[in-house]
Amino acid sequence: MATKKYDLIVIGAGPGGYVAAIRAAQLGKNVACIEQEPLLGGTCLRVGCIPSKALLESSHRFDELKYRTKEYGLVVGDISFDLAAMMKRKDKIVKNLTGGIELLFKKNKIDRYLGKGRFDGLGKVVVENGEGEQTALEADAIIIATGSRSADLPGVVIGGGVGTSTEALSWDEVPEQLVVIGAGFIGLELGSVWARLGAKVTVLEYMDRIMPGIDAKIADSARKILQRQGMKLRLGTKVVGAKDNGDGKCTVEVEGGDPIVADKVLVAVGRTPNTAGLGLESVGITVDRRGRIPVSEGWATTAPGIYAIGDVIGGVMLAHKAHEEGVACVERLYTGTGHVNYDAIPGVCYTSPEVASVGRTEEQLNEQGVAYKVGQFPFRANGRAITLGAAEGEVKILADAKTGRILGVHILGASAGDLIAEATAAIEFGVSAETLARTCHAHPTLAEAVREAALAALDRPIHM
Ligand code: NAI
Repeated sequence: MATKKYDLIVIGAGPGGYVAAIRAAQLGKNVACIEQEPLLGGTCLRVGCIPSKALLESSHRFDELKYRTKEYGLVVGDISFDLAAMMKRKDKIVKNLTGGIELLFKKNKIDRYLGKGRFDGLGKVVVENGEGEQTALEADAIIIATGSRSADLPGVVIGGGVGTSTEALSWDEVPEQLVVIGAGFIGLELGSVWARLGAKVTVLEYMDRIMPGIDAKIADSARKILQRQGMKLRLGTKVVGAKDNGDGKCTVEVEGGDPIVADKVLVAVGRTPNTAGLGLESVGITVDRRGRIPVSEGWATTAPGIYAIGDVIGGVMLAHKAHEEGVACVERLYTGTGHVNYDAIPGVCYTSPEVASVGRTEEQLNEQGVAYKVGQFPFRANGRAITLGAAEGEVKILADAKTGRILGVHILGASAGDLIAEATAAIEFGVSAETLARTCHAHPTLAEAVREAALAALDRPIHM
């Protein structure tokens, strides 16, 4: 078997891997990227962020037309939907975006290998295409960016009506009763999709709150809104089993309670790093207790010349965090500098309204003993939000009590996922509430609520 030599091999073409490959190519490196799926883009583009947002948009528009036309002075006839057409639109979007990455690979002269990459000693990777063919590759540097998959839950058997987010993105009919296990971002986003399309959704959550990692008060306000929308949220409920009964129904077992029967079950209890079959033992890498690859400075693993980024290492499992690490890891390798500011990684949950957050929460600041000031501003006092019919929610800014430096921003409201960009830039640049409050914001915009929250942190909001 002839061996092909590269400067860099990237294993995995998700938002971490494909971005790392492109950045290395931009820096003049000869790059190979191995991906086992025919489509590039990883979970995010194929079966995650992008298809879920496509379905969230279709179902949101249906919901608005069905329940809110009167409020806007609109008169429409009967409203219904075509689920197959929604799925087709989603698939077209996925095809379009994954195809775009193929074009970017061609433009950047990145060699793409279709197959499963496996280490065969230091500096060596074998690609197996599943049909018995093998290709041997060598490189001075190798980046593992193999991402994650839905975590298993003991007692829960995936199959039939019991599925993960991958299946829940492609169901061909709306379940009458849907049970969602886990009130994290995946459970609440996909739960919202199916609830808007008519499913009776019950979310079972182990903890006494929803949206782990999000500021507790903001998450609690979001909980109340979701409940008002008709989603049943059973907190403090531990699921210990679930299976398809083979008669068109599924049963979910909860600790200390009666079993629940549903048409479909979505398991969304977190994600597990993908390291099986990678041949890590051949290079001496051992994963930690949670299956993650340990890394040190510069995303270096314990094996010389081997790096790891994204969901397969520790930290939040978010596409843009992997993207940041991909760029920084490659820049560190080839330019000597490259950095990720983990305090400025935003998170967005695309429920309606959206929830977005960056920096530290009140709970974290209290734990760390940091004195802070809180500035809050409700969207019901924001002109643009009222005209949009999107006056639910608020902006909350946490600023250092002494210096005024913005430490965390948490938003519940329409377009929170876009508004958080300003807050992220503020944290990245070490901006104070005073500076943000003195920055002119266009009127009328939702972003004015961010400025007003900064003013509130200084005890001088204008519109409240
Ligand atoms: P998650 O870890 O955010 O939430 C899982 C939830 O399941 C937790 O609240 C946990 O307490 C609960 N749970 C665990 N075991 C349970 C049991 N036996 N019974 C009842 N509840 C149980 O995981 P999720 O939602 O699956 O998301 C995985 C990753 O993907 C997260 O890092 C998330 O942030 C990310 N993601 C990001 C999105 C975005 O950026 N918009 C969208 C979707 C996912």
